[in-house]
Amino acid sequence: MANSDIGIDLGTSNIVMTMGSKGVVLSEPSVIAYNTRNDRVLAVGQEAYDMIGRNPDYIAVARPISEGVISDADLVHSMIREFVIKVSGRQLMKPRIVICIPSFITDIESRAVVEAARGAGARQIYLIQAPIAAILGAGVDVTKARGHMIVDIGGGTTDIAVISMNGVVASNTIKNAGNTIDRAIMKYMQNRFKLLIGERTAENVKKELCNLYDPSDDVTYLVKGRSLLKGLPAQVVLSETELFQAIEDETFAIMEAIRQSLENVPPELVGDIKDNGLLLTGGGALLGGLTQLIKRTLGIDCRVAKDTINCAAKGTAVAFSQTTTLLDGFDKAALVKYR
Ligand SMILES: Nc1ncnc2c1ncn2[C@@H]1O[C@H](COP(=O)(O)OP(=O)(O)OP(=O)(O)O)[C@@H](O)[C@H]1O
Ligand SMILES: [Mg+2]
Repeated sequence: MANSDIGIDLGTSNIVMTMGSKGVVLSEPSVIAYNTRNDRVLAVGQEAYDMIGRNPDYIAVARPISEGVISDADLVHSMIREFVIKVSGRQLMKPRIVICIPSFITDIESRAVVEAARGAGARQIYLIQAPIAAILGAGVDVTKARGHMIVDIGGGTTDIAVISMNGVVASNTIKNAGNTIDRAIMKYMQNRFKLLIGERTAENVKKELCNLYDPSDDVTYLVKGRSLLKGLPAQVVLSETELFQAIEDETFAIMEAIRQSLENVPPELVGDIKDNGLLLTGGGALLGGLTQLIKRTLGIDCRVAKDTINCAAKGTAVAFSQTTTLLDGFDKAALVKYR
């Protein structure tokens, strides 16, 4: 891997980038802010995220990737270009770029991603499927004929995949993930307590208070928002049990998808997966009590990958050394590889 090589995990919530032997060099929200009068990009990443809800009319703050798919190709294009310049400057040596994409992305969408990387000055572009990137990033050896199951819970999607011999044997994707959990919390606060809260507050509540395993009435968190009735600032003391109720349906959908995937594992690989357990990656793997809940309800071992949010990006870096052996992750690249 050359030092100019760049790996990108283009996530719904976060963009994580690696560069050469430096490892992860950037991890920022997938947000872009631009001037709507002249379309000039004003900020990307954390700087743009901090503008959410505080922007004047003529500035738009957008998340151009939603639910794991590209909702605005032009904005993704500008965002990738800005991020590549941010990490590599305007260097002479054009980088090779490996981009991790959701497994169900269409050819048109993958082409948009490739065009964006090309626009950012890439010399060569490879695409890799998200579950393969995540499992490589977790340091699992997937070259052998042994089955592994990975569950990546991101902001926009939960991707479940069975991987063996560098390829995806079976996969399932659902749209219940971090963002839908946040929205469920917002809805609950509104219905139950008539309290309006923003996305960022909901996300904080989730990170601080979630307990999916043994929620208690006694552990609480102070949630601040605006009263729907009076229109004034208000606050509510929320307990773990109440939060559990708020996100129960979302949690159930994720558990159910994992259960179905386990049931559909090809028979030859069932034993391997039982032995290896489930590997959880993505930010949603940090949901409080999730691993214990999985062990209890599905009866299978389960662990969260080290550095879970950066796993897929780290996997793109590993992939540079395996461009010839990886099959599934790279087959689309054959169609859309530019020199
Ligand atoms: N400690 C935590 N507890 C619960 N959820 C968390 C925690 N930390 C981060 N998250 C959630 O993880 C999600 C982001 O994870 P990640 O960066 O893996 O997503 P992504 O790769 O951008 O999305 P996708 O893979 O769906 O495109 C967000 O919904 C965030 O709220
Ligand atoms: Mg992701």
